[in-house]
Amino acid sequence: MSAKPDELLQLIESALEAALPISTLPGNSDLNRAIHSAVFPGGKRLRPVFTLLAAQAAGVPVTSALDAACAVEFLHCSSLVFDDLPCMDDAGLRRNRLPLHLQFRESTALLAGLALFNEAYRLFGRHPRLLADAADCVGVDGMIGGQAVDVQQEENPCADLAVRDRKTSALMRLTFIAGPCSGEASAEVVDLLSDCGERLGFAYQILDDLRDASPETGKTASQDERHHRPVHSGAEACRQRALDEVEAVCNILRSKFGASAGPLIAAVRMVFAGVSQTNPARLVSA
Ligand code: IPE
Ligand code: IPE
Ligand code: MG
Ligand code: MG
Repeated sequence: MSAKPDELLQLIESALEAALPISTLPGNSDLNRAIHSAVFPGGKRLRPVFTLLAAQAAGVPVTSALDAACAVEFLHCSSLVFDDLPCMDDAGLRRNRLPLHLQFRESTALLAGLALFNEAYRLFGRHPRLLADAADCVGVDGMIGGQAVDVQQEENPCADLAVRDRKTSALMRLTFIAGPCSGEASAEVVDLLSDCGERLGFAYQILDDLRDASPETGKTASQDERHHRPVHSGAEACRQRALDEVEAVCNILRSKFGASAGPLIAAVRMVFAGVSQTNPARLVSA
């Protein structure tokens, strides 16, 4: 199946809606509304798009990778709920709205994030091959470890920002292997896509840092500065470094997969062209 980007996005929105955990316990309407609000309306949805297109590049049908794409987006949405909490970045704005803990009680936001996190593993569990890699990418040497390094930066600045960047690069690594691992992709293909995902995640965090002070991100501006966190700086050199990584990854994808990676390469270029501008184009409308 070779779907167009709009069709892919529709597929993703419907699959996310269908997979959303819903409590049937009486009195949990706030929890259910909070879970819904953490996922809808979404942000750019770049991770599930990448998951499906990486599957396609590796010869795995997009429809086989939908569970994994939803799982990755649930993890991402929950990571944003946690990231915005007062004990983490203490954000006041996310996706042009109040962060979840300011829409609902803090306890409800925390539990909604956990519900999504939990559901992601149910979905990954349908592809046992993915489970250990998912736990590694999310875990103490992955996204969680990177976040832990980031939040203590004021007292203990990170000597090597690539370590802190794991907060983003590890989930992007998982994003790129989730689709191929939902099918029969070879270990060699999975390793190559894993490396591509990690490099793009690193580039994505550089560009996110560079836009931290912008009033046009839909997020609280200058959070890194407020928390005195060292980030990638030196705008032009950093931007160039990130865009060079993107170009290198696109070349690897083209030479390894040829035409089947065309849609993935186009999506990567579109995402990074948007992120490198001040006001990124949304991949999916609210
Ligand atoms: C924001 O990710 C958090 C980072 C890892 C930098 P996105 O920019 O993908 O957020 P949404 O999903 O589009 O809101
Ligand atoms: C958050 O990084 C990364 C994760 C949520 C894992 P940031 O703190 O830079 O993300 P934004 O800028 O709040 O979106
Ligand atoms: Mg943050
Ligand atoms: Mg940021």
